[in-house]
Amino acid sequence: MQLLLHNKKCIVTGASQGLGRAIAMLLAAEQCDLVLVARRKKPLEEVKKLIQKKYNCKVSTLSIDVTSNNADIKIKDFALNQLGTIDILINSAGGSRPTTWDAPESFWEEGMNLNFTALRKLTTKIIPIMKKNKWGRVINITGSVEPREVNVANAAKSAVHAWSKGLSRIVAKDKITINNISPGRLKTEQILKRRHPNLKERKQFIKENIPAGYFGEPEDLANLVVFLCSPLARYITGELLHVDGGMKKFAH
Ligand SMILES: NC(=O)c1ccc[n+]([C@@H]2O[C@H](COP(=O)([O-])OP(=O)(O)OC[C@H]3O[C@@H](n4cnc5c(N)ncnc54)[C@H](OP(=O)(O)O)[C@@H]3O)[C@@H](O)[C@H]2O)c1
Repeated sequence: MQLLLHNKKCIVTGASQGLGRAIAMLLAAEQCDLVLVARRKKPLEEVKKLIQKKYNCKVSTLSIDVTSNNADIKIKDFALNQLGTIDILINSAGGSRPTTWDAPESFWEEGMNLNFTALRKLTTKIIPIMKKNKWGRVINITGSVEPREVNVANAAKSAVHAWSKGLSRIVAKDKITINNISPGRLKTEQILKRRHPNLKERKQFIKENIPAGYFGEPEDLANLVVFLCSPLARYITGELLHVDGGMKKFAH
């Protein structure tokens, strides 16, 4: 299948590792030009080097905290300067924030900012460019809709689902699609080192929760992202898709 992504201009946040990195690699393989965003310069530069070694596309990095002041404007300006325009925005920067029911306000603010406000603000800055181009793709990497505990990220990601559904209806006439992907357990640092560091617990979790019987690879999700970015996916918008080996229990 030809995905017709050659020469598309993309921003990928959270590109220094994990899902964002895997998505960046696959977009590069489709000959997209990229701006890679995350806080740490060194791993970003490593991804850039790897892409340049394997693929013939333009790639630059921006080291920035997406929750910092005016990060949305700085990312947009940098990307426009590097790429000339923006066709595709992948919002993958984020992270789980499990907590107690009475966590301090500062914890909630940080988690909501990272997992909702920052990506909402950035998307809002990029949409006018896509509207002008009469084409665009926004993919948000979100998370569970079946929380088992109090986790700031669950509330924030649910806000992303609700907000982006509304937005997708408004921008559809401009040939812009906005979709959300909820990962189950894909093998990234967040999952292997922070959520399930203990091998015995990991095996038990898989047995009890994942019908497929294993944690997925980042590429299991990145493959879907690349398809949704393609012009071939023009009629899929406002959706929430799960990449979780069947972990989600309910039909809706
Ligand atoms: N892996 C899974 O199975 C899973 C499950 C549920 C949800 N998710 C969601 O999927 C997304 C990617 O997760 P992952 O598993 O790839 O996590 P990860 O391995 O921890 O990677 C997170 C990425 O986000 C960047 N990041 C974090 N905070 C940032 C900030 N304030 N500013 C800029 N960049 C920031 C990190 O780079 P720096 O540290 O360099 O900034 C890194 O590139 C997240 O939104 C996460 O909530 C993943």
